Amino acid sequence: MSARILDGNALSATVRGQLAERAAALTARGTAPCLAVILVGEDPASAVYVRNKVAGCEKAGIRSLKFTYGLDARQDEVMARIAELNADPLVHGILVQLPLPKHFDAEAVLEAILPDKDVDGFHAENIGALAQGNPRFIPCTPYGVMQMLKSEEVPLKGAEVVIVGRSNIVGKPMALLLLSESATVTVCHSQSRDLALHTRRADILVAAVGRPKMITGDMIKPGATVIDVGINRTADGKLCGDVDFETAKEVAGLITPVPGGVGPMTITMLLTNTLESAERAAAGA
Ligand code: GUN
Repeated sequence: MSARILDGNALSATVRGQLAERAAALTARGTAPCLAVILVGEDPASAVYVRNKVAGCEKAGIRSLKFTYGLDARQDEVMARIAELNADPLVHGILVQLPLPKHFDAEAVLEAILPDKDVDGFHAENIGALAQGNPRFIPCTPYGVMQMLKSEEVPLKGAEVVIVGRSNIVGKPMALLLLSESATVTVCHSQSRDLALHTRRADILVAAVGRPKMITGDMIKPGATVIDVGINRTADGKLCGDVDFETAKEVAGLITPVPGGVGPMTITMLLTNTLESAERAAAGA
């Protein structure tokens, strides 16, 4: 048996179409939604992500500003830029692409972003609000995963969910979101003993570790929903996820591909957060 494919490109196209209408309406009312993106250093993957984010904005009718800094950039100049963008009423979202170069204190940089413009949802205040079940901005990748699960009406209440990976960007906020939907959530990581013992129990398995094809078909419960957040490159330059798609699709009931799964939804939710921020600003909220 072969799993159904959960197509992130198709869902993205639908959601982005609705966003474009909202962006046009807001612009017509005198508020042009605007996202500022800051890229520091020379990480090639980050450069691609930022290019895709800027292109996504343009297609949805959201203004974008891009600020790039070399590997030798000083933290204080990036902080000065953030302060300027915080104070600019025409900017509704500020995103600093991660990872930052090693000589940066990433936490200090993220904390410098005004929580009302933190469309990544990485500021401690926004993580706290999410943990309390009262989110201001939901981090884009887990937000996209939730939209995908909801679009397929995957039952969440009481479901056994296993998340592999405990990052601040995906694993931890993913766990909070699924908990708030009354799922039973297990978070596994590199130190977990007998990973397969956990993954085989999962009705919903979320892989977010950054290790190519580490989740194989024998680790999946028959009929499970498998969400692959990984974006890795194989030795021959091809993109692949954290899930071994070929063996997993024979066991799973529903599965996201890489590329064309979670990736496009991450950018879609960034656009959603930016637009929402602009709508709040226009409403004086
Ligand atoms: N690097 C990898 N994922 C992300 C993300 O969602 N936001 C930012 N700012 N950087 C990232």
